[in-house]
Amino acid sequence: MAHYPTVRNRRLRNSPGLRSLVRETSLEANDFMMPIFVTEGEGVQEEISSMPGVFHWSLDRVEKELADIANAGVRSVMVFGVPDHKDALGTSAYDEDGITQRAIRKMKSLYPELIVAADTCLCQYTDHGHCGVVHTTECGAQIDNDESLRLLARTAVSQARAGADIIAPSNMMDGFVSAIRQALDEAGYENVPIMSYSVKYSSAFYGPFREAAHSSPQFGDRKTYQMDPANSREALREAQSDVEEGADFLMVKPALAYLDIIRLLRDRFSLPIVAYNVSAEYSMVKAAAQQGWIDEKAIVLETLTGMKRAGADLIITYHAKDAARWLREG
Ligand code: PBG
Repeated sequence: MAHYPTVRNRRLRNSPGLRSLVRETSLEANDFMMPIFVTEGEGVQEEISSMPGVFHWSLDRVEKELADIANAGVRSVMVFGVPDHKDALGTSAYDEDGITQRAIRKMKSLYPELIVAADTCLCQYTDHGHCGVVHTTECGAQIDNDESLRLLARTAVSQARAGADIIAPSNMMDGFVSAIRQALDEAGYENVPIMSYSVKYSSAFYGPFREAAHSSPQFGDRKTYQMDPANSREALREAQSDVEEGADFLMVKPALAYLDIIRLLRDRFSLPIVAYNVSAEYSMVKAAAQQGWIDEKAIVLETLTGMKRAGADLIITYHAKDAARWLREG
């Protein structure tokens, strides 16, 4: 007589002890990097309306947020400066006394052990909101790749000089890793690693961030430099060139709709893979949680586990503090 089932996969799910014995992926606070938005002014601690629980901080207040992050057990942050002054060339991005540079100095002096990564881009600092230098030609506005590289490299060096532990260029110009690597090396920062936003898609998932950073393009879009969401072989080319140019980390951004890309990079490259769990991914969860439609804690931990299972070594996430606390509570 036939005797079935012949395979009983449920055996290993029978108790919490057995489940934890065979668990393939686990999360820890050390997996997370927390983004932080810093602004000019004093006494500013202002919630970003499209990102509940995320704030703009002025430098005199930022210590509170850093203490919260450290107490949660998160050991790294990504700094986004939101400057007052914007102009066509994004000069406040590479001002030695710019908001980002001052924020990095302050953070490193308050928490020397904290890993401070600097987002290196121009869009928050330019009046047109593009990530590079704009030239108006007969065919309309063009982003000048090589001219933008010069300014980006200058920005990176000023951030390294301010004490940034990691330079994270996000403007998607061709050659940005080599331009920055060369400039950092020449300035004596050969030990400062580059976390390249290697595979950055032109995504609607950045909407809330652009409100937070006041960085929406004033005309056109970012499709000539950020990638088409329909492409994955192109992701390999972007990652390959960054590896050749000397990147130390490869990032995929956004994360949730791009888990296949995270896996693809993990299988092809041996550098650490970073997933950016971006603003709209965060805001959607917060909105549904506020409505009482989902269990926020369970959804967040499941989502982050999925990113790690897909191959991420590190996850940049606005949930970092909460997730680290939930993990500690068990
Ligand atoms: C800067 C930058 C952006 C994000 C990170 N760095 C915005 C963009 O490219 O438009 C988005 C992060 C998020 O949505 O959380 N270029």
